[in-house]
Amino acid sequence: MTDQYERLGETYEQVKKIPVGLAEVATMMAALPTLKGKSVLDVGSGTGYYPRLFRAEGAEVLGVDSAAEMIRYACHVESREPAGVRYECVDATQLPVLGGFDVVTACWLIGYAPGIPALDDMLSRLAANLRPGGELVLLYPNPSPDWEQFANYSRYGLTCVRTGEADGRIRGLVRVETEQPFEFETFVWGPGVVESRLERLGFTHLHRQATCVTDEDLEARGANFWEPLLANPTFMVLRARLTEHA
Ligand SMILES: C[S@@+](CC[C@H](N)C(=O)[O-])C[C@H]1O[C@@H](n2cnc3c(N)ncnc32)[C@H](O)[C@@H]1O
Repeated sequence: MTDQYERLGETYEQVKKIPVGLAEVATMMAALPTLKGKSVLDVGSGTGYYPRLFRAEGAEVLGVDSAAEMIRYACHVESREPAGVRYECVDATQLPVLGGFDVVTACWLIGYAPGIPALDDMLSRLAANLRPGGELVLLYPNPSPDWEQFANYSRYGLTCVRTGEADGRIRGLVRVETEQPFEFETFVWGPGVVESRLERLGFTHLHRQATCVTDEDLEARGANFWEPLLANPTFMVLRARLTEHA
């Protein structure tokens, strides 16, 4: 059983180690407010990769995911290396109010909302878990990508092609080119869609985080290697503040 969880976790988390994953993690962490002493709810927490990072920054973290196997893996890591992260199996489409968190995060989640009403519902459930003035940080597929370039992103560890449309989103196929390659579908909201839905819900101070890599990764591969990815990332990170009067 343990081996099965280990494999699941390793498969998922190898995406964070390919160049595009290194840029994703650096950009996500750069977008967050200071986490020390803050309460964080991570929705769609997967293997617990981000909850563990947030905990290491000094936050109290609750990770929730609808997939029981993800929660089991995250709990398995927690029991192996106790860090004090809590996990619960919860579907974001039914997310109740679990608390008034300082920060709510959702990485690679909102693309799964099938249509604008479902997106509104998911975002309002995330908002309901924030204290007034709390910050929402969303990581989701780049709304205005250059798909032609994505087809040639092998040097960044994956390729991505546009395959069609689904419920108001662009549908794409991502092929992760790790030792054991695997594919998954991605769903891309168009430019400005997420921002406009957040503003309707009372969010202000919307800030798109500039894509970045750590100094160490910049030095290791050189600026020329990273430049195309930083200019045309596969992801976007947006931070927004819930108005104090909501
Ligand atoms: C691509 S993974 C990303 C995991 C994690 N956020 C990360 O970046 O490492 C997407 C996660 O969203 C979860 N997910 C998808 N739909 C969900 C829903 N309706 N409610 C909660 N979690 C969901 C999946 O189970 C999966 O763990």
